[in-house]
Amino acid sequence: MSQPLARVDAFDKVMGAVQFGADRVPPGLAHGALAVATIGRGRVVRIDTSAAEAVPGVRLVLTPRDGGELASAGFVMAGGHGFQSLQPLTDDHVAYRGQPIALVVADTPHAAAEAAALVQAEYEAEPLSVDLDADGVEVLDQAAVIPAGFFPDVDVGDADAAFARSPVRVDSVFDCPPQHACPMELMAAVAEWNGDTLTVHEATQNANAVRFGLATQLGIDVERVRVLSPYAGGGFGNRNSLQAHTCLAAVAARRLGRPVKLVVPRSQMFHDASFRPASRHRVRLGATVDGRLQAAIHEVDQQTSRHDLFPANYVEMTSRLYGIPNFRGHQRLVRTDVQTPGYMRAPHEHPAAFAFECAIDELAYATGRDPVDLRLANDTGTDPVSGRPFSSRHLAACLRRGAERFGWANRTLEPGSMRLADGTLVGWGVAAGAYPGSAVPTVARLRADDDGTVSVQVGGHEMGQGIRTAIVETVVRDLGVAADSVRVDVGDTAAVPQHLTAGSWGTASALPAVHDALQELRRSLDLPPTGAVDLRAALAAIGRADIEVQAETRAPGQPPEAIDRLRRGAMAIAGPEFPTFTAFSFVAHFVEVRVEPTIHRIHVSRVVSVVDCGRVASPVTAASQVGGGVIWGIGACLREGSEVDPRYGGFLNADLAEYLIPVNADVPRIEVDFVDEPDPHLNALGVKGLGEVAMVGVAPAIANAVFHATGQRQRRLPIRLENVL
Ligand code: MOS
Repeated sequence: MSQPLARVDAFDKVMGAVQFGADRVPPGLAHGALAVATIGRGRVVRIDTSAAEAVPGVRLVLTPRDGGELASAGFVMAGGHGFQSLQPLTDDHVAYRGQPIALVVADTPHAAAEAAALVQAEYEAEPLSVDLDADGVEVLDQAAVIPAGFFPDVDVGDADAAFARSPVRVDSVFDCPPQHACPMELMAAVAEWNGDTLTVHEATQNANAVRFGLATQLGIDVERVRVLSPYAGGGFGNRNSLQAHTCLAAVAARRLGRPVKLVVPRSQMFHDASFRPASRHRVRLGATVDGRLQAAIHEVDQQTSRHDLFPANYVEMTSRLYGIPNFRGHQRLVRTDVQTPGYMRAPHEHPAAFAFECAIDELAYATGRDPVDLRLANDTGTDPVSGRPFSSRHLAACLRRGAERFGWANRTLEPGSMRLADGTLVGWGVAAGAYPGSAVPTVARLRADDDGTVSVQVGGHEMGQGIRTAIVETVVRDLGVAADSVRVDVGDTAAVPQHLTAGSWGTASALPAVHDALQELRRSLDLPPTGAVDLRAALAAIGRADIEVQAETRAPGQPPEAIDRLRRGAMAIAGPEFPTFTAFSFVAHFVEVRVEPTIHRIHVSRVVSVVDCGRVASPVTAASQVGGGVIWGIGACLREGSEVDPRYGGFLNADLAEYLIPVNADVPRIEVDFVDEPDPHLNALGVKGLGEVAMVGVAPAIANAVFHATGQRQRRLPIRLENVL
């Protein structure tokens, strides 16, 4: 195949031909709407639903008294399936502003929404704490409350002593706000009962969690639940587990004997799904006078909820970014009155890189070294934490190639030294990033028909990242068949088990399974292991009209038991530490900013990003992933922050008018390049993860460019124009 494959589902998406979760309209469909708590913490003491029930077309109103039949699905990071352990409508407790307190179901979505707004609740309010510094928060050492070995602190050498001895020291504190993922497709479920069998259509990254979690919540056999999620309109952590609306739709559908659709509006999504928690980072770096890192201490406070411990995982990446002989990473969890936070693209790596890579830039200035040279001087081929080699590591190539393409050699070191004729300040900044390489057990089923069709059923979810295209490209490259003869089925629990697709392990998990199934197909058809295949002739030769094969793959070092875990609906994630190596993807971002001379508006005017993600499986969707990651990084650095009022709780700017994300005018030319060297260890195809690493390091590259332009260190996100006035 000479030309890279275009996105295989693009045409159907543009034509509206693919079905997302809420697109399904079965006969007799009823519509749900949620009423939510308007206090930040306390108890519902009285709830009046009479006005809601009087709205024409209303069929059912469920209140905190009515969910007694529901069990909690448990928190996904504590062995459960839910984004949080709290299950609304099972008691009168209000844990946070925006928590659902009633569900209304009606013949039309309009009647349901109107009625939900008429639900009247009286509360008994309690004091609340919603930010890291509030009175009444509870601060916990993560290592003391989360089982050892799960998300460990990092302790290599003697970082405190080495820091104290270092001739050059940096000691800075960085603040990152809560942020919300805002996928384009709203949270939505369509629940349909057929006798005692439940089918749910919902956009998710984890059809297994929805399936097994619903079985737990409803107390039914998991065999009686099927979840279909062929497409999701965005995800990146927001949909990585079961959300609260799904079982409420299922309960209502069971009571009414009708299918029920529940679409959660944007404002409620800010409270009914996970979010990137607030975090504060103190970074200390100790180095020799010529900038060789001797010690680093990275301490983090991260927000969690009262009811769950969302694990912090910031130092896993920062301890591997350079060859630092003494490293201490320490993470604390701060309990606040919010829904449980969770994963959002480069969940910990984006804030961690902002803190750490801004501190590295401070070190470059403290030692008078060029920021690219300083990073190259501290590169390593060995994971300093485990002592094992990296499976592959081409960070130096990313830095060198990026510097070349960007024209970095023309940069002058002094802040404020590069100005345009009209006084516009120009800044050039660089930052590196890394993201753990992981993989999960995967089942792939492959069927070839004598009409030339190849059908693939594989564990994985399509949320726009392009997993279908990568799968089709793998089949096309292997068999030499036409792309339009390949059918791909993902996200269907009735086909094969569906592990969570997240953590940038989707491609590196699904493609090896498809690859093994292709090898199995060739063996079954008596074909050589490589070379183009005439499927019709091969099937005719063995006298068959069709053939079906299956493959199961595991990550390196994973025991066979991992497949059983997958089939039981449990998670089975391996990485970044494997028995003989450590796997990370790497990136270098080069950014130019322009700061207007009068009102100091910051504009990102140019970006060059070079990525080491192993072999590039699908060039078209890979370039798009990186472009998207850079745009998200621009948002995360200059725009996005969920505003919190400590008096009331909840998130105030809970819509796309006030939660600012980059628009076209904010996005410059983004040049994307890949090292494209296959990783020799992680899997047979040589691919590592890409989706998240693309965003890691964008924010510090911008902040470092803002420093270069203005001479001001910005250590709090987002950096808005009032910060640089
Ligand atoms: Mo990703 S934030 O693990 O979907």
